[in-house]
Amino acid sequence: MEWIATLVQGLYIVAGVLFILSLAGLSKQDTARMGNLAGMVGMALALFATIVYSLYWSYAEPEHRLPVWLTGLLIVGALAIGVLVGTPIARKVEMTQMPELIAAFHSFVGMAAVLVGINSFLEPEGVGGAVHTVEVALGVLIGAYTFTGSVVAFLKLSARMKSAPLVLPGRNWLNLGAFVVFVGLMVWLIVLGEDSGTLGLVLVIAMALIGFALGWHMVAAIGGGDMPVVVSMLNSYSGWAAAAAGFMLGNGLLIITGSLVGSSGAILSYIMCRAMNRSFISVILGGFGSDDGAAPAASGTPVGEHREIDVSGAVDVLMGAKRVIITPGYGMAVAKAQYPVASLTQQLRARGVDVRFGVHPVAGRLPGHMNVLLAEAKVPYDIVLEMDEINDDFADTDVVLVIGANDTVNPAAEEDPGSPIAGMPVLEVWHARQVIVFKRSMATGYAGVQNPLFFRENTAMLFGDAKTQVEAIVSALPAMQEA
Ligand code: TAP
Repeated sequence: MEWIATLVQGLYIVAGVLFILSLAGLSKQDTARMGNLAGMVGMALALFATIVYSLYWSYAEPEHRLPVWLTGLLIVGALAIGVLVGTPIARKVEMTQMPELIAAFHSFVGMAAVLVGINSFLEPEGVGGAVHTVEVALGVLIGAYTFTGSVVAFLKLSARMKSAPLVLPGRNWLNLGAFVVFVGLMVWLIVLGEDSGTLGLVLVIAMALIGFALGWHMVAAIGGGDMPVVVSMLNSYSGWAAAAAGFMLGNGLLIITGSLVGSSGAILSYIMCRAMNRSFISVILGGFGSDDGAAPAASGTPVGEHREIDVSGAVDVLMGAKRVIITPGYGMAVAKAQYPVASLTQQLRARGVDVRFGVHPVAGRLPGHMNVLLAEAKVPYDIVLEMDEINDDFADTDVVLVIGANDTVNPAAEEDPGSPIAGMPVLEVWHARQVIVFKRSMATGYAGVQNPLFFRENTAMLFGDAKTQVEAIVSALPAMQEA
């Protein structure tokens, strides 16, 4: 029966390779479907191998394990709960609720790492000693941190908890103090050695409590609006928690998967921070933007007169355009305007207009938000360009349609060193001959800062819900052609 253990290890390696291929595939839109498929097959193999492995050990070592039938029953029960709870949630979740769903799922990974840590302390497998103690301590700490941090992120994102940052006096010292106590407890546990008994268990539970408190406090210190970056950081932590669990269980696949999630989450957080001009280090330390962890101060003072345009005016402008760039933002997601935007694109292209999209790396509220919406509405991938690819082309463009974007097209980021978003790279739409901004009012965007673009001479505001207005343009276009 030895061959079963070898088979399982083989399947784990294949699954690990599939996970790596999955990440590689997901990095480009036209290979993303393949990437997803590779990930799904990898996960199915990993699940299958784990189930076989658990049943095999129950069978091979009946004196140390649960009976085979009970192991099987527990596995089927766990799978059934996962399927029954997960399927309806995944089916009905809105794109805009994705960050909170991801936060909720991360909390499970965190809790699993805590439970694996405690279990591994009580029933150590493989080598014990100081290395194992450090694995348990780190796994429990990171897992507990991820659990409460993700719960707070979920509560803030779903507006079940006040989104204002919690600012306790001397909060950085509190965090540092808690970490020092954790290190002290870990050293104590190492000194106690193999037979630490009940005291050892008490120390492990105390470490978990420190992790729970740290996770709660550090994420509560961050304003609700900045939660998407935090969710990406927690994604990374959940990966490290899984990798720590992998070390404790001697499970190579968990180590590979955890490291992939941990490092890709960290890279993503770094990219997001850079695109938002935030300090990566202060995000990791919980609370950023300013010393008290608050979001940048709102500044909504109007900076001049704005010009308005109506649907037929916008149609006139479009009929005279040869080159059009559409820059979508959070408002397009809220209005679900991607479908009429896709038909507008189709119509304009059918008339020989060169239409392309310029997507800012943090447009919307989660990484890739706009790309997913545009792909969903079947906008061809090859006309959807990243900010860096399209930023030099605005000067040669007749019309830019800014659909529900605000901060990501704000010239103040480049021109006003005192602006809260100064230094954030933006789409330089104002270089185009004519800019039409689709939004409902003169309200500020996510960063709470006024946008001088709206007051430029070559900008016209088309007020109203983005979906309604784009639909109106789409239905007015053929009429204009016939006229
Ligand atoms: P925002 O600056 O958030 O502006 C969105 C605009 O959409 C608002 O000004 C709003 O104006 C308009 N809007 C809302 N509902 C609308 C509707 N139904 N129809 C038409 N317009 C509507 O958007 P952005 O340019 O995409 O920038 C994203 C912001 O989020 C950045 O500051 C970024 O740093 C931040 N952020 C992004 C991420 C990621 S990863 N994407 C993560 C965290 C934070 P009205 O209310 O006047 O309509």
